[in-house]
Amino acid sequence: MAIVVTVAQQKGGTGKTTLTANLAAALAVGRRVAVLDIDPQGSLTRWHALRPPTAAPLTFSNVAGWRLTAELDRLRRDHDIVLMDSPPHIDTEARLAVRGASLVLIPVQPSPPDVWAAEGTLKLAAAEKRRAAIVLNRVPAASRQKDLVVGQLTAAGLPLLRATIGNRTGFVDAFAAGLGVTESAPRSSAAQEVRALMAELMELLR
Ligand SMILES: Nc1ncnc2c1ncn2[C@@H]1O[C@H](COP(=O)(O)OP(=O)(O)OP(=O)(O)O)[C@@H](O)[C@H]1O
Ligand SMILES: [Mg+2]
Repeated sequence: MAIVVTVAQQKGGTGKTTLTANLAAALAVGRRVAVLDIDPQGSLTRWHALRPPTAAPLTFSNVAGWRLTAELDRLRRDHDIVLMDSPPHIDTEARLAVRGASLVLIPVQPSPPDVWAAEGTLKLAAAEKRRAAIVLNRVPAASRQKDLVVGQLTAAGLPLLRATIGNRTGFVDAFAAGLGVTESAPRSSAAQEVRALMAELMELLR
């Protein structure tokens, strides 16, 4: 049975789709990976459609509404990992996506509104008795905000991952080509960060 990672955060534009795509591409080397897009915006769907035939194969699905749980059960059966990208709000589907998760990954940019919005997603995960982990995304090279946010989250005892993802144009370029940064620029800092995030998540889920 597959591990299910739901990438969720009620605030828009925090990097849910970017991280889902990049983790999927990195994990797909040597593992059976499925991605499930439950966001009607369909950004992950567009990314997957752009994926070149030479890229590591991923099972792709986009379902909505009541079909979500059955689809997740189907994908779990014959994959090692299912990654789910969710919309920027908490509704019934987002709840089902969190309920179906082994881990809820919450991308947070180092700024107060992102941190506040993460609280809602953490509450939802707690209500569904699911593990959650926060990853800082789009961290600028030198950022006082990052230190403040790390201090704030740590003091509050929130589950912050060690791995952080920088604000890097490589993520945009890779996404436009239907790739992850580990595929488009394997030796880049962005790729190193994604591999570190992947390793930390796999360690947590072991
Ligand atoms: N680490 C990063 N470095 C540079 N750009 C990034 C990074 N992460 C995300 N972006 C950019 O930020 C924008 C929002 O990212 P993304 O679409 O992944 O967020 P989202 O949380 O899925 O948004 P939504 O809530 O609308 O679904 C995109 O233009 C994406 O390319
Ligand atoms: Mg998105």
